[in-house]
Amino acid sequence: MPDSWYSVLCILYSVLCRFQQDSHTDDMNPIVYVLNGPNLNLLGKRQPEIYGRETLADVESECRRTAGELGLDIEFRQTNAESQLIDWIHEARGRAAGIVINPAAFTHTSVAVLDALSTCEFPILEVHISNIHQREEFRHHSFVSRVAAGVISGFGTQGYALAIQRLARLIGSRDPSS
Ligand code: DQA
Repeated sequence: MPDSWYSVLCILYSVLCRFQQDSHTDDMNPIVYVLNGPNLNLLGKRQPEIYGRETLADVESECRRTAGELGLDIEFRQTNAESQLIDWIHEARGRAAGIVINPAAFTHTSVAVLDALSTCEFPILEVHISNIHQREEFRHHSFVSRVAAGVISGFGTQGYALAIQRLARLIGSRDPSS
C-alpha cells in the first residue's frame, strides 16, 4: 500500500476513535454518591418505632429507581467507620455531581466529616430519617448542615428519594436557589 494511503487510513482511524470517545462521554449519566453513616446497616431492625421497618437494601432500591428516572447513576454506600466515610467523600470529589448523605451519629460529632465535605464543590444534601429536632437535645446540632444545600429530616426513608430529586434539580440548574 502506498505511504500516502497508509497516512490517510491512520488519520481516519484516529478521527473515528475520537468520535467514539466523545459519544461515550456524552452517554454517561452524572453520578450521585448516597452515603450512610454508622448503624444504618441495621435499618429495619434498629428502633423501628423511630426509623421504620424498611431496610437499607429497600432504601437503596428506591434510590436507584428514583435516580434512574432522573438520568442519574448512584453509588450507594454505608459504613460504621468515620475514616471510611471521609475516604468516600474524597473519592466523590473526583467522580460525583453531588452527594446525598445521612451521616447518622457523625452528624452531631464529626468536624472531620464536615471538613471533608467542605472540600467538595458540588451540592450536598443532608438526610435524616427521623426528625432530629424532635429528639434529644444533642441531636439538634448538625456540623454537616453548615455545608449542606438543604436538609431533609423526619420524612422517613422517603427523604432519600426527595433529596435525589432536589439534587437532580440543583445539578441541572444554573441557579441553585431555584
Ligand atoms: C439519623 C439521626 C441521628 O441522630 C442518628 O444518630 C442516626 C440516624 C436519622 O436518619 O434519623 O443514626 O441520622
